[in-house]
Amino acid sequence: MKHYLLDGEWVYREENYRRAFELVDGYIDAFMDGLRSGRSVKAEEIDVKRVLLLGMGGSGIVCDIAAEILSSRGIAAQVSKEYTAPLGEWDLIIAISYSGNTSETLNSLLRFLDQDSRLVAVTSDGRLARLGEKFGFKVVRVRGGIPPRYAFPDMLGAILGYLENLDLELARINLDEIREFQEGLKRDKGVDENPAKEAAIRISKSHPIIYVYREVRLPGYRLKCELNENAKLLCHYAEIPEALHNDIEAIPRDGLIIVPRSFREPYEISKTIEALSRLLGESRVLELRARSKSYFEEIIELFMLSDYISLYTSVLRGVNPLILHRIERLKDINAAYHEIKRRLDEKLG
Ligand code: PA5
Repeated sequence: MKHYLLDGEWVYREENYRRAFELVDGYIDAFMDGLRSGRSVKAEEIDVKRVLLLGMGGSGIVCDIAAEILSSRGIAAQVSKEYTAPLGEWDLIIAISYSGNTSETLNSLLRFLDQDSRLVAVTSDGRLARLGEKFGFKVVRVRGGIPPRYAFPDMLGAILGYLENLDLELARINLDEIREFQEGLKRDKGVDENPAKEAAIRISKSHPIIYVYREVRLPGYRLKCELNENAKLLCHYAEIPEALHNDIEAIPRDGLIIVPRSFREPYEISKTIEALSRLLGESRVLELRARSKSYFEEIIELFMLSDYISLYTSVLRGVNPLILHRIERLKDINAAYHEIKRRLDEKLG
């Protein structure tokens, strides 16, 4: 059966939805463009053992994924989402800010500016790009003019492409597999056959609670952030099994547990989710699954699924998925931001 909103073509003619869906539909091309950009920036020859990554929000999650992939290759990687990053013996410092103007990221970077040969930035523009020009560190550029979180594939491609030049080929990717999965999430796939639409309907009628475990921490976190920013929906996020020793006592009546599942999940976690589903009733648990059985493809598919879910939820809630009112306003009125920008502009001369 058709859903009056989600299956109605007219909805997607509205400019903001049309644009948002177009951006997410363009995931794979954007990733490839980013990859090309990253590969085109020649890296210094350094032996990379310890990496620090700086980034917030939609750029920060790119740091999280890159760090996870680096760690899986035996490289110590730490992500900092603070105003001041930890000092340390870093071989490589990666600053990612889509706008190039995020104060936490730039303030953290300031203390490393004398280590230009070990710095690399990913950005579309802003002070970060200008700092790169002035202080001589590498800058990988991604396309400008879109909301930062929608540039996730561009930025991820950019950093992975750059790392390849350091002999760190981190991801062999089967794009056909991902593309096929994505087809099933697009607007023209009806509610009955589209897991993203089905999830959005359930989420919009409930109090969403995302439970993650190590293997799906990042896609779960992406879903949380995308529901917050695109669908303007508050949702709870916690890690299992720990949350099952406290959190579950407080699940509200309309609580919907959303669990991304992974082919890599440990036996104990699978059994725990089964038990939780028995305890609460299947109708209160929503499982999100990718199709791929490879690490990188699965993560990307779960990210895509999260992004589409958030957009369909924004349609159901009648909100604009492109605009962020509070985040931008807070940046405007935050005195700390202004002070950091003043210091940066002094450095930039
Ligand atoms: O998606 C968004 O717009 C935010 O989460 C931003 O990514 C966040 O505010 C940081 O900005 P930037 O990505 O430009 O560094």
